[in-house]
Amino acid sequence: MDETHRGRITKDGIRIYEDADFAGMHAAGQVAAQILDEVGPLVVPGATTAEIDAFIERRVTELGTTSATIGYKGYKHASCISTNHVVCHGIPGAKIPGHKDDTLLDGDIINIDVTVIKDGWFGDSSRMYFVGQPKKFAERLVQVTHDCLMYGIEQVKPGNTFDDIARVIQEHAHKNRMSVVRDFCGHGLGRVFHAPPNVLHYVPHRRPGDAAPVLEEGMFFTIEPMINLGRPETKVLGDDWTAITKDKKLSAQFEHSIGVTARGCEIFTLSPGNIYFPTY
Ligand code: MF3
Ligand code: CO
Ligand code: CO
Repeated sequence: MDETHRGRITKDGIRIYEDADFAGMHAAGQVAAQILDEVGPLVVPGATTAEIDAFIERRVTELGTTSATIGYKGYKHASCISTNHVVCHGIPGAKIPGHKDDTLLDGDIINIDVTVIKDGWFGDSSRMYFVGQPKKFAERLVQVTHDCLMYGIEQVKPGNTFDDIARVIQEHAHKNRMSVVRDFCGHGLGRVFHAPPNVLHYVPHRRPGDAAPVLEEGMFFTIEPMINLGRPETKVLGDDWTAITKDKKLSAQFEHSIGVTARGCEIFTLSPGNIYFPTY
């Protein structure tokens, strides 16, 4: 990497990390991904989101990391678990909207989102899981959402812009008659949890002079599209965390933490167990 570019902050406020920093992000990302691998067998009908979160909290510690979410803006849990029409930030142990308590039921789809800190580096990733047997339309939503994330990641290389990522995500969702959530976005991360830029998953209206930032080697950020079967609008419940779709139709999300390399990107949160489930 060009010496003059080390440790720089771009005009958009995005930190350019150094070559050596990729190892720290890889190590943190791999712990988050390993926990997401391990949690799969726990996601069965009758399991509660409280017990899944307790497992995650224990593994975060056992693997020599700390939870980035416990204590974050008053949040008290090691994961977010978002069921069916919950878009994101579902609270483990809380009553699942539409259910009688926090017990998962056959046919539910859930997102589990884990962020750990290892040696000061943040690893943030989420995946979808099927509880028992999914409905065909739910399975399709989950597959399309995963494809949206991976198409977005394919655009990550120096010289492309953040709008290139957003465009392919939006196009794939719309081609499948699904919508892209606009109220939440991905984010820069590294030695902090949430940093510039906001990584949008839709292409915003742009005025002259408001171009999307250009991707540069050394940028670290998440891509975490939330895709809905119905309308994109969301609302946050009275607990101030749980975001649901206004029309109560299903929502899905996947998230990877990535770093821009000279020729493309490194995905820090790839599954160490090579778990290709549901079909990814
Ligand atoms: N991991 C989430 C993200 O992708 C943030 C969760 S913040 C919490 O950015 F407090 F809700 F856990
Ligand atoms: Co994130
Ligand atoms: Co996350």
